[in-house]
Amino acid sequence: MKEQNILVTGAAGFIGYHLTERLLKLGYPITGIDNLNDYYDVKLKYERLNQLNKHSKFNFFQLDIANYNKILDVFNETPFPIVINLAAQAGVRYSIENPMAYIDSNLVGFQNILEACRHHNTKHLIYASSSSVYGANIKLPFSTDDSVDHPVSLYAATKKANELMAHTYSHLYGIPTTGLRFFTVYGPWGRPDMAYYSFTRDIIEGKEIKVFNHGNMKRDFTYIDDIVEGIIRLINRPPKENPNYDWSNPTPSASNKSFKVYNIGNNKPVHLMDFIRTLEKLIGRKANLKYLPMQPGDVKTTYADIDELKKDIGFTPTTSIEVGLKHFVEWYKMFYNKI
Ligand SMILES: NC(=O)c1ccc[n+]([C@@H]2O[C@H](COP(=O)([O-])OP(=O)(O)OC[C@H]3O[C@@H](n4cnc5c(N)ncnc54)[C@H](O)[C@@H]3O)[C@@H](O)[C@H]2O)c1
Repeated sequence: MKEQNILVTGAAGFIGYHLTERLLKLGYPITGIDNLNDYYDVKLKYERLNQLNKHSKFNFFQLDIANYNKILDVFNETPFPIVINLAAQAGVRYSIENPMAYIDSNLVGFQNILEACRHHNTKHLIYASSSSVYGANIKLPFSTDDSVDHPVSLYAATKKANELMAHTYSHLYGIPTTGLRFFTVYGPWGRPDMAYYSFTRDIIEGKEIKVFNHGNMKRDFTYIDDIVEGIIRLINRPPKENPNYDWSNPTPSASNKSFKVYNIGNNKPVHLMDFIRTLEKLIGRKANLKYLPMQPGDVKTTYADIDELKKDIGFTPTTSIEVGLKHFVEWYKMFYNKI
């Protein structure tokens, strides 16, 4: 399998970069696609690309997955038995102000990837969904058997839509698809729009940090290496058809076709205030906290039930918040010369 090219979309993004780096180290030739948009500091995306370009088996195209003809050109040039779609407009809060960006990248872009996979006989499409699909649910931990019909942001709605779109392609055209609901991923080379990143910056610079819902939140923070390990274990395990699927008791995460959705989360939610205290200890400085009410689109707690993942690939994330944040803070200081 290792001589076969894998397509990673969103390769200059946080998760795409780490996954691509790891796959290249394992010997896979990788084609990366990214439009290098300026949703956050583009310099960081170029720096990640610089790291990837050190590998001879990395090939990169700067293009938008919403452009179907350009996507087809890439697929026509190279057959991809495995496609990993991570390109998306991420961020819950941004979707309140800029909904159309989510339609272009997450709906039109994802549809283009599905169509390209259909016409090029892709053997396994893995794509990023999100813990946000659980929306207004209060039953914990969040299980892939739960109904997810109450998203509280357009971002979440597009991710749920991706799972539905993938199901139709598994059903109609037999394309094996695996959707991964990631839970608050953090780590070196991370995303500046996420709280762990801006908190670190603001604590180091002595600036105020905004603590929403007065700190009364819990997140199932998941370290990047655990996410990458989970994806890698799934690559050569496309979901199998299941003629015995129980249609009288259906779950949203599987069907009789080669379709599957998993949670990938740490399975250990951390209180936001404990998270901030850990960061303070690692940075060696007290945070200047500004308590604010809940933001629209946010959810109070995320907590992943990962029994299915354990059962199917024998994998459980292992990185504690203390270890993961230590790696992040060390990287942050090195990257921004803050030592
Ligand atoms: N990081 C998390 O905590 C988290 C949680 C849940 C789900 N996800 C999902 O995982 C995936 C990767 O997230 P990330 O944290 O690496 O985000 P990221 O923003 O760092 O990476 C996404 C990359 O995709 C690119 N991109 C966006 N729209 C594109 C388009 N139309 N065409 C081509 N490239 C495009 C961006 O330039 C970016 O480099 C996304 O689908 C995101 O929604 C992430």
